[in-house]
Amino acid sequence: MGIYQRHVAPRIVDTICSPAALAKWRAPVVAEMSGVIVECGFGAGRNLSYYPESVSGIIAIEPSDVMRRRANERIAAAPFRVRWGGLDGQHLELDDNVADGAVVTFSLCTIADPLAALAELRRVVKPGGELRVLEHGLAPDDAIRKWQYRFNRLEMVVADGCQLIRDPLATVESSPWKVTKTFQKYVPGPKPWGYFTSLRAQ
Ligand SMILES: C[S@@+](CC[C@H](N)C(=O)[O-])C[C@H]1O[C@@H](n2cnc3c(N)ncnc32)[C@H](O)[C@@H]1O
Repeated sequence: MGIYQRHVAPRIVDTICSPAALAKWRAPVVAEMSGVIVECGFGAGRNLSYYPESVSGIIAIEPSDVMRRRANERIAAAPFRVRWGGLDGQHLELDDNVADGAVVTFSLCTIADPLAALAELRRVVKPGGELRVLEHGLAPDDAIRKWQYRFNRLEMVVADGCQLIRDPLATVESSPWKVTKTFQKYVPGPKPWGYFTSLRAQ
């Protein structure tokens, strides 16, 4: 991995994920969760402050050193224990049924094999536990999709493998999870990056 991918790209990606305006999307994603949650693609821990009091711990999966360092302050401030659970969501070294729920935000776009990660989350979450997902993805309009396909290669280089042309709803529907609730909408800002999907699955 080159210096750009290791040191620069994670900082750019974390800055893109930092706007306060995302709070109104992040908070509902983790609302009403409880017990131990496995968060795949934990990044710099930007969901931590939104977890409700009913959450007792987080198992964080994150490969980037830069992201893990950036998360440390938020982890120290968290009212529950956050432990690192591995570097690769596609191959978790966790026992079956160790978590009560799973969260993935803006990471199904980046993980090389998102279906492998979703299958691993299904394995480590107890039966009946919920998956919560928040993602940007492939837009419904041809005019926007055209730009998403044009920008995708550059996006992958600049933003550490992030893709604009993935369909998070279709991905979760092809996984072992059963989608129970979906909300999709363009958010303000450049539309190739701005078609958001928030979903719940069991
Ligand atoms: C766009 S960031 C999102 C971070 C955070 N979830 C957020 O909402 O701010 C994508 C994250 O996925 C992580 N990632 C990439 N490949 C991964 C993998 N195989 N397993 C777990 N996480 C991965 C990246 O290191 C990065 O932190």
